[in-house]
Amino acid sequence: MAHPNTTLRVLITGAAGRIGQTLRDGLADRYALLRLADIAPQDEAGRGEEVVVCDVADMAAVERAVAGIDVIVHLAAVPDEDAWDKLLPANISGTYNVFEAARRAGVRRVIFASSNHAVGFHRRARPLDEHDVPRPDSRYGVTKVFGEAVGRLYADKHAMQVASLRIGSFQERPRDRRQLMTWISPGDMVRLVGCAIEAPDYHYITLYGVSANTRATWWTHAADLIGYRPEDDAEAWADDLMSEMPAEHPVAVQFHGGPTCVVEFDGEPGRID
Ligand SMILES: NC(=O)c1ccc[n+]([C@@H]2O[C@H](COP(=O)([O-])OP(=O)(O)OC[C@H]3O[C@@H](n4cnc5c(N)ncnc54)[C@H](O)[C@@H]3O)[C@@H](O)[C@H]2O)c1
Repeated sequence: MAHPNTTLRVLITGAAGRIGQTLRDGLADRYALLRLADIAPQDEAGRGEEVVVCDVADMAAVERAVAGIDVIVHLAAVPDEDAWDKLLPANISGTYNVFEAARRAGVRRVIFASSNHAVGFHRRARPLDEHDVPRPDSRYGVTKVFGEAVGRLYADKHAMQVASLRIGSFQERPRDRRQLMTWISPGDMVRLVGCAIEAPDYHYITLYGVSANTRATWWTHAADLIGYRPEDDAEAWADDLMSEMPAEHPVAVQFHGGPTCVVEFDGEPGRID
């Protein structure tokens, strides 16, 4: 990460979640303000923090949360495949509200928590970079493609600086064979978001949120641009995971999105180029 910027006022949405709490700890004391917003309960505000209740589906609440903010880290979402009526308010309306409220309030930069599931139906035999077209593997993945598109629109039309982070598998340690490719450690997550917050001006960038995994199949040119240098590697768990964990599902193993591709799947794998 660059040097802490003690004038920056940063808002994290979804701050009570797994990634949010890791960022709250990891980014403590780096900025003038960390405003922590969620619908779920949170610990009391510490030094340099504000804790606010905010449903991102409620535009008036989002407008209050973004007031006076320089950079937003937008994590709030249903974080996995789910029913459309659950995804719609949080991931679609909520993400639109965050970008639009940010524009109205003159927020300089928005960092959007996208997902590898925005590109999950690309074949795993071919490594991906940030220029590969969207290929969602779920309704959840569609909501992340939507968020990336809104981010691009606000960068081009309103000169907002936007980073979409296609996060892999955020875990204390990799849990299955696929995560030998897709794992991002807590430490690397803090480094990635810290770099996205602190890097000099950019326009619109997409980055894969992964550690320095030996088996990684996603490449991000923009990592150098923001100075993201991951330090962890899932390979340390490879022997255990390859011997103890079952082989992947025959459909999951063919695509970057893995098990999410299999949910409700009644397609024909051979037709997916
Ligand atoms: N964990 C991963 O491996 C992973 C991978 C790819 C992408 N992501 C994305 O990163 C983000 C954070 O993921 P996480 O693992 O911390 O999930 P999480 O479920 O632990 O945290 C999400 C938080 O968002 C909050 N939230 C949900 N709906 C909300 C609403 N309407 N208004 C305000 N807050 C709301 C929840 O209360 C929760 O605290 C999500 O956008 C997720 O899609 C995570």
